Amino acid sequence: MADQPARITPTAALTRRRLFTGGAAMAAGAVAAGTTSRAHAAEGTPVTDGTATEPFHGPRQAGISTLPQAHAVFAGFDLRKGVDRDGISRLLRLLTDDARRLTQGRPALADTEPHLALLPARLTVTFGFGPGLYGAAKVDGRPASLPAFVVDRLEPRWSGGDLLVQICADDPLTVAHTLRMIVKDARSFATVRWTQRGFRQAAHSQKPGLTQRNVMGQLDGTGNPVPGTPEFERIVWAPDGGTTLVLRRIRTNLEKWDEADTVAKEFTIGRKLADGAPLTGRLEHDEPDFTRLSPAGFPVISEYAHIRRARPEDPAVRILRRVYNYDEGVTRDGVADSGLVFASFQADVARQFVPIQRRLAEADLLNAWATPIGSAVFVIPPGCGPDGWIGETVLT
Ligand code: HEM
Repeated sequence: MADQPARITPTAALTRRRLFTGGAAMAAGAVAAGTTSRAHAAEGTPVTDGTATEPFHGPRQAGISTLPQAHAVFAGFDLRKGVDRDGISRLLRLLTDDARRLTQGRPALADTEPHLALLPARLTVTFGFGPGLYGAAKVDGRPASLPAFVVDRLEPRWSGGDLLVQICADDPLTVAHTLRMIVKDARSFATVRWTQRGFRQAAHSQKPGLTQRNVMGQLDGTGNPVPGTPEFERIVWAPDGGTTLVLRRIRTNLEKWDEADTVAKEFTIGRKLADGAPLTGRLEHDEPDFTRLSPAGFPVISEYAHIRRARPEDPAVRILRRVYNYDEGVTRDGVADSGLVFASFQADVARQFVPIQRRLAEADLLNAWATPIGSAVFVIPPGCGPDGWIGETVLT
């Protein structure tokens, strides 16, 4: 196609890189050994594969039930003054077109660095609409706004936004390139309000699907609904194929957390640090027993433990946490600017996220170390087919 720069196959790129980096000897060695990656595969080590893709088209957007990639950037945009429904539709057509290319390892339409598109590394690009977009387009369906929670110390520089783009991939260079392409597309329609980068454990550090650890050292994600189950369907997806995202930036006070001992840390969450098992169980996925008492007559899992406060009685109103860590370096005194870019997906914000956050805000031992400093809510519209665009069901 005329609009696509010639594609360099990853195999060719690899071969060339080997030669240029003086890897001829390495390459020869690999040939002798039947290639390094195959040797690893035989030993059961996952093979690195930056060419892996996630589907873009479908009734639902990717990047939600997708096995979380190692790197993410969340970008919040404000629409420029005067950008109306027509303008927003044009913007979304452009963004959709570039997302469908980039996620499949093809350069964006006006890609200035087409080679950076060739290793998508499971790239997903997910779009969300904030209240301001509905206002500018004069259409119904804006997301519910959150009440103020007593724990909130929200900063405008991490909050709000008319349009969200969530970019996730297993390669941080892919994420950076995709963000650049998206920002270029958006420039004449919107300004960047904030960007929030996040990371999880690297793609091949442990077997896919195992629970990751967060910056506080806890296994984070154990109690999540499992993609592919009826429960996940009910919790995450609205009937139209959309969902909602609550994005909270939560600063963690790691210096203070260091002062707590293991018993205190486990008591705070209600789970063991070593393996994530509930304090009443042996294995990570054992059901917590909230009725169990210690010999002294106190609940083994405290009434104020995070998992107890966070668990709704009705399993239908749980949430999907697709959580990333952030770590923006340290101050001159060595204090970490670190925490979670906490992404919560649910069919209905008011029924699911709000009551959980309210219970946590009222009394959660974790509040001593965790402070929400950013907050935004977006509707995630349904996905689209090869001829469609994200947002067409909202704007047409
Ligand atoms: C810095 C902030 C936070 C940290 C470090 C944190 C950490 C954890 C950890 C370690 C667990 C136990 C393992 C697991 O099931 O994933 C957990 C569970 C959970 N958290 Fe958080 N969390 C934070 C904030 C939040 C917020 C803001 C919400 C929602 C408003 C939330 C909702 C939940 C839920 C629903 C569970 C599962 C409870 C269950 O077992 O049913 N968390 N969290």
